[in-house]
Amino acid sequence: MSSDGRQLALRCLGRLDREPQRAAQAVVREVLDGPDVRGTEERERGLATELTYGALRWRLWLDACIAERVARPPADPEVQNLLRIGALQLLVLDRIPAHAAVHATVDLARRVRGERISGFINGVLRSLERDREALRQPARAQLGAHPQWLVDRLRAWVGEERLQAVLAVNLTPPPVALRLHPRTPPEALPESTPSELPGVVFVDSEPRRVRDGVRDGLWIHQDPSSAAAVALLDVQPGHRVLELCAGRGVKTSQLAMALQGDAERAPETLIAMDLSPHKLAAARRLVRRWTGAEALVTVAADATRPLPLTRGLLFDRILLDAPCSGLGVIRRRPETLWRRTPEDIEVLAAMQTAMLAEALRWLAPGGQLIYSVCTISPEETTAVTAPHGPVDERLTLPGERADGFYVARFTR
Ligand SMILES: C[S@@+](CC[C@H](N)C(=O)[O-])C[C@H]1O[C@@H](n2cnc3c(N)ncnc32)[C@H](O)[C@@H]1O
Repeated sequence: MSSDGRQLALRCLGRLDREPQRAAQAVVREVLDGPDVRGTEERERGLATELTYGALRWRLWLDACIAERVARPPADPEVQNLLRIGALQLLVLDRIPAHAAVHATVDLARRVRGERISGFINGVLRSLERDREALRQPARAQLGAHPQWLVDRLRAWVGEERLQAVLAVNLTPPPVALRLHPRTPPEALPESTPSELPGVVFVDSEPRRVRDGVRDGLWIHQDPSSAAAVALLDVQPGHRVLELCAGRGVKTSQLAMALQGDAERAPETLIAMDLSPHKLAAARRLVRRWTGAEALVTVAADATRPLPLTRGLLFDRILLDAPCSGLGVIRRRPETLWRRTPEDIEVLAAMQTAMLAEALRWLAPGGQLIYSVCTISPEETTAVTAPHGPVDERLTLPGERADGFYVARFTR
């Protein structure tokens, strides 16, 4: 069955409303890769992606503009999402003429909700269309798309002069960065530009080819700042390596490749831990696909607690890619803008502090440990690491070519 882009976007947004704990990226991928979407043209899939992520990114701003035009905001999430999709096209996107945006959105509303709702949506969108010129002010819209607490914090962290640039980056679709498998033949790669890190490139989004390459183990989605954190650990064959918070194994696959060197054997000196057994299963599959190694040792454990490892076992290299507020990667996870609260930062900082203290206990003399987070809050970065005296640290602000990221290195 083929679906149109607006209808698919409405489906993605509805699914996210019903499953508020899940990452938008995972939900969008699931909907767009669903069996009933297979016949859909790439153009409509592209529109669905643009509208879904746009509605998520600009949600706070769109809702504020809509709220000024209705007696009270609609309680029905699907009506809210129809309004957001319509308002996004009118107030943010450039390429869809206003009359076409209103017509297509009202038409979709009629198909999914009937005549009365479509009349209401038509009224609100016409009102937005009338005020369009006044509302299309990028700086005001960028501020409006961020919660006030976050604007205040970002101002304090990056300074007034860089604030607007960071807000703009947070709302811009991220570049597609891929870490290549060392054995990927150059001719398999779509047109690309190099990043500052060898083996990581940017490609102009060619969605189907990129997806197929991920499936075939030719590359993996990974930003250069994330890949650089692992490179900094300088893992060599023979090292005993512990990875805490391995997740689905993006960095585990990189560690495993470094450990493997030129050999074809399994990296038996790598232990990957995470709280989630489900994610660890994905990590094992990924490492198998990348290295051919059958048995990645994984342990499901809470890294804020004493680790369930044999006492006396020490590691030459430890990677702690801790759970964080994600404030450096808002452009990849736009839901951060309205899901995160200032209290989350405090809770996460306490977890990170416990994890780092525990991780350092397992470092061998002469060993190295990397603590990394994809956020830029001082509470989750320098405040966590300073008590342990990192030998070096680096904070990257969210920018066009790299995500916001913090890395600190410790030795013993
Ligand atoms: C930043 S993500 C890791 C991403 C992963 N390293 C990668 O590159 O794909 C943080 C991970 O910490 C895990 N986590 C959260 N709380 C944890 C805890 N208390 N103990 C261990 N892992 C935890 C989450 O399941 C998540 O996979």
